[in-house]
Amino acid sequence: MKKIRAGVIGMGFIGVSHVEAIRRIGFAELVAVADVNYELAKKKADEYNIPKCYSTVEELLADESIDVVHNCTPNNLHLEINEKIIKAGKHVFSEKPLARTSEESSRMLQLLSEYKNIIHGVNFNYRMNPLVQDMKNKIKNGEIGKPYLVHGSYLQDWLLFDTDYNWRIEPEISGPSRCIADIGSHWMDAVQTVLNAKITEVCADLVTVIPVRKKPKGQVETFSISTSTDYEEREITTEDYGAVLFKMDNGAHGVFYVSEVSAGRKCYFNFEINGSKASLYWNQETADHMWMGFRDRDNCHIIRNPNLMTPEAREYTYLAAGHPEGWNDALKNNVYSFYKFIAEGKDLAKDPHDFATFEEGHYILKLTEAILKSSEIRQWVKVE
Ligand SMILES: NC(=O)c1ccc[n+]([C@@H]2O[C@H](COP(=O)([O-])OP(=O)(O)OC[C@H]3O[C@@H](n4cnc5c(N)ncnc54)[C@H](O)[C@@H]3O)[C@@H](O)[C@H]2O)c1
Repeated sequence: MKKIRAGVIGMGFIGVSHVEAIRRIGFAELVAVADVNYELAKKKADEYNIPKCYSTVEELLADESIDVVHNCTPNNLHLEINEKIIKAGKHVFSEKPLARTSEESSRMLQLLSEYKNIIHGVNFNYRMNPLVQDMKNKIKNGEIGKPYLVHGSYLQDWLLFDTDYNWRIEPEISGPSRCIADIGSHWMDAVQTVLNAKITEVCADLVTVIPVRKKPKGQVETFSISTSTDYEEREITTEDYGAVLFKMDNGAHGVFYVSEVSAGRKCYFNFEINGSKASLYWNQETADHMWMGFRDRDNCHIIRNPNLMTPEAREYTYLAAGHPEGWNDALKNNVYSFYKFIAEGKDLAKDPHDFATFEEGHYILKLTEAILKSSEIRQWVKVE
């Protein structure tokens, strides 16, 4: 298989997971990393023995040996950096949300229409969990009958206190939506993937639970706790919590809620599908487990087992049953799938793909904006 040579821009929380994922792929070679915080990037480059380390995007893009660039920077830089990657003629694997607004993501699509050979992907990693893929195939094979209802949540507590702060709080960096764009986007992508259907109409209630936060006068790393006593007060406009009723184009109805202020919940991402014959439930905190419920026979607790999964889902799992796979493994599956598509010389216009493309990332932004609008006008809104 063709060797894929990679570069990663942004060496913060998620950048390191991308580095580890690339390193686990036999036909990939990590050539360089870049971060405006050169000290941080250099420390990581030394730790992981990465040959080159840059302080600017331009230096990394000038490296002709690089085929694929991962954009792991904050949301406000996705448009600018993704455009530069595309114009440099390199394949682009961007973090989610694809941009701050659908206007920004539509500009990326516009540019891509001039660069048809560029393969583009968005890191919606939850869809790559083996049991999420198993769920998708069970539904496709008719094992739960017609899907009627979809419901679940994604709950975290890392922004519970008014002293908790991160760039995600600031709409100029994060975008006009926080909780829905940041974690609701993952939830919507996962259920759209398992049902092979789109959410088309929403009715939402978004709440800023903590209207004023204490912004420390220094940088705070994602998911870390600030101990600073030197701060300024900042009024918050983005949501800490959101609840969304929705309808899908396959006739299913659903509801989900997301929160970054739910004490004790860390990465509590779960969903349940109720069909005419059976139900399926999965929670990423117990990623190797799935529940299948029936009315006319005993329910069952499924443990990920490569020997018993739907054959299509087996491609997403590596370890024998009882040897847990989890969050980093799903992210690796996403990067692997993206790289394999490139290495096999496939074409997004005609070949099937299991990773999310920029088109799918753009649709999630349109959904996010419909949710914002619905909460504002207190009515159902159709996705344009
Ligand atoms: N897929 C997932 O599960 C997941 C999880 C976490 C974050 N994310 C996404 O990843 C992105 C980054 O989030 P994070 O939590 O890693 O943030 P972070 O703040 O921890 O890291 C961002 C890094 O980008 C660097 N950076 C900023 N400007 C830059 C520039 N101009 N050039 C190069 N580097 C620059 C920063 O110095 C920092 O090291 C966000 O879009 C976020 O939504 C996705």
